[in-house]
Amino acid sequence: MLPSGVFFLLILGSMVDTKTLSEKGSLLYPYGPHQGDATNPKHDDGTSEAIILSVPFTFYGKTYKTAFVNNNGVISFNEPVRQYTPDPFPLADGSPFVTPYWADVDNVLGGDIFYRQTTDPALLKDISQDITQYFPQSPFTATWALVATWDHVAYYGSTSEKGNTFQAVLTTDSKMFYIIFNYGDIQWTTGAASDGDAETGLGGIPAHAGFNSGDDTNFYNIPGSQTDAIINITTTSNVKVPGRWVFRVDDFQVTGVDPPQPSNNCWL
Ligand SMILES: *[C@@H]1O[C@H](CO)[C@@H](O)[C@H](O)[C@H]1NC(C)=O
Repeated sequence: MLPSGVFFLLILGSMVDTKTLSEKGSLLYPYGPHQGDATNPKHDDGTSEAIILSVPFTFYGKTYKTAFVNNNGVISFNEPVRQYTPDPFPLADGSPFVTPYWADVDNVLGGDIFYRQTTDPALLKDISQDITQYFPQSPFTATWALVATWDHVAYYGSTSEKGNTFQAVLTTDSKMFYIIFNYGDIQWTTGAASDGDAETGLGGIPAHAGFNSGDDTNFYNIPGSQTDAIINITTTSNVKVPGRWVFRVDDFQVTGVDPPQPSNNCWL
């Protein structure tokens, strides 16, 4: 009796483990109205209201107290962004930009953009563990995060059901500042007003991912940006987790990529 009972428990245990893993299969941290997220209004090229950061965020040596979560896949500081076709970095107008996936989202046609500032201990613990794993030389205990999620968002001019799901997380312990990009499902690269195909959401001027510090020298383009290959950003990483990119941003540094500051060329 005892051995078969133990065997049964082992089987049960591995089934429970598997279930937990598949539920955790998404790279995205929890999001949505049930997490207390605010939801952006349904406007093409719309934005959140001004988000007063309860912990000011230092990005490339400058500290910002106001952010916007913009529908077109950009988190900006001080000013909202309505531009729908991405420009190469560094941007001529010097806007400080965090862009997990800058492209022409239309949340009237489909999907939602959510955000919240959080000090939830369980979430901060997960974020801290992840960052400490990727940057073991500087142990990190998050005290705050801004979680912005684009959930199955459609593209401008879409005649398809395609949607992109991705997330950007700003976090700090008030000394170090990090940004995490999580890519769940990327099905399109280009809106119809950026020369994309209305049926496929491909072609034209594809999406751009990375950072623009606001000065001429500090910026980063995730490989594949503004090429067709950006559709595969769910398979690339600088921390060995496909679909996740993580950067320390208080002072400019990029780890896990070689060469350290690639241009728009495709490194896939
Ligand atoms: C995306 O990745 C797949 C699988 O590796 C590859 O076949 C395809 O060519 C890639 N797409 C682009 C546009 O690079």
